[in-house]
Amino acid sequence: MHTESHDRISRRSLLRAATGLLLSASVSPLTARAAATVEQRYIAALGRVRLHGADDPETDVWAYNGIVPGPVVRLRQGESARLVVENRLDQGTTVHWHGIRLPNAMDGVPGLTQPPIRPGESFAYEFTPPDAGTFWYHPHANSLEQLGRGLAGAVIVEERDAVTVDRDLLWLLADWRLTSDGEIAAGFGNAMEAAMSGRVGNTVTLNGRVSETEPVRAGERIRLRLVNASLARIMALRFEGHRPMIVAIDGQPCDPHEPEGGRMLLGPAMRIDVVLDMQGEPGRRYAVIDDFYDGLSYPVTQLAYDDKPPLRSHPPDTPTDLPRNPLPEPDLAAAERHDLTLQGGMMGGGAMAGMGGMMSGGMMRGMMGMGGGAAWAINGMSMTGDGHAGMEPALTFQRGRSIVLTLRNETAWWHPMHLHGHSMRVLTRNGEPVPHRQWQDTVLMAPKDVVEVAFVADNPGDWMLHCHVMDHQMSGLMTVLRVA
Ligand code: C2O
Ligand code: CU
Ligand code: CU
Repeated sequence: MHTESHDRISRRSLLRAATGLLLSASVSPLTARAAATVEQRYIAALGRVRLHGADDPETDVWAYNGIVPGPVVRLRQGESARLVVENRLDQGTTVHWHGIRLPNAMDGVPGLTQPPIRPGESFAYEFTPPDAGTFWYHPHANSLEQLGRGLAGAVIVEERDAVTVDRDLLWLLADWRLTSDGEIAAGFGNAMEAAMSGRVGNTVTLNGRVSETEPVRAGERIRLRLVNASLARIMALRFEGHRPMIVAIDGQPCDPHEPEGGRMLLGPAMRIDVVLDMQGEPGRRYAVIDDFYDGLSYPVTQLAYDDKPPLRSHPPDTPTDLPRNPLPEPDLAAAERHDLTLQGGMMGGGAMAGMGGMMSGGMMRGMMGMGGGAAWAINGMSMTGDGHAGMEPALTFQRGRSIVLTLRNETAWWHPMHLHGHSMRVLTRNGEPVPHRQWQDTVLMAPKDVVEVAFVADNPGDWMLHCHVMDHQMSGLMTVLRVA
């Protein structure tokens, strides 16, 4: 059945081996099988890329198909995909398709859903994305280092009917900790950082480059897909002189609305799709600012208008609504309720007073008494690493049940909490109803936040729930939920 594609793959592998070529060429679909399966190949290997301008040094990275970020995986809603991942690293890896509601065996969690792909081996991920939207992919093995060295890319699942905008843009934002000679700083898994904000870096890239400007044209309407692929950096984005409309969060369409105070919070692993009407003046520049950390605001880039006259005199009056995805609506009256309490970390980081502040003395006081080197726990249990055999679920749900989870952040730190295999409706935050009741797969929690989320446990299997600050996940802020 699969022979045609297998033959082609091995022929390609042979070719590659023979020429020693690196692989950007192999990104294109390999077959035009009758079933319209998209088939693509991704190779995780060492690479070298330019994160800065032409005069700055290059950086050794780990990359998919030799580029950072990895190639955009373009899929179509409701059409099957076969994504073959080949591991040319010297350690095991997997790929997790973050936010996509797929069968458990395709979820890419080593030990839990598949054995790691060993060096030299390949694994074929096969699934049909039920939801259109903006998702992303990254390893789930040695995640802190593998993601931190560059293994990440966006997944765009296209709507069945194209959305009308002038341009559809993707900004995958990533945060790197670079040394003065441009290499990635060592020291992944520093225990002190793990108990605080995680490995926040010093260089933010947009689609793999530090960006001075992004070209735009007056009057055009842009759909901009924002992805925060950082290990730990939380972003709060403002578009000077513009009024972005949020149309989707974590891939799931929402009622179009402007962000509160014009500021969009984008925690690690979160995505926001906005519609931007370019109402600025031709020839001018407008900064896009991230000012999440007090006193450390910086421009992510600038929107640079060309000199051409506006494409149209005022914004198009076509609606910005995206078609909804087929998510099952939880039955709140009949829902089963559970609490998950986040514990641990250094005390006293609550104000998050800038990165200098985070290192200040008082913080060392009283790390909570977590065993085994863990810094964090959920309901008193510290599951560490990034998925391994024998992880017992904290909760087991009967398939089809509606579930309400109360997530309590008892810590002094921010946590983007992520659930695999499902999307969660965010009901309340600190007792207040959340406007638009967004669907999210990653919910950013401020220190002491209490958030209620709801979903239908309709996807059988063992699913991770963890903080997406990678150092937090690996040092205990992780658990497993079973849908049986
Ligand atoms: Cu984006 Cu468990 O991962
Ligand atoms: Cu995920
Ligand atoms: Cu966290």
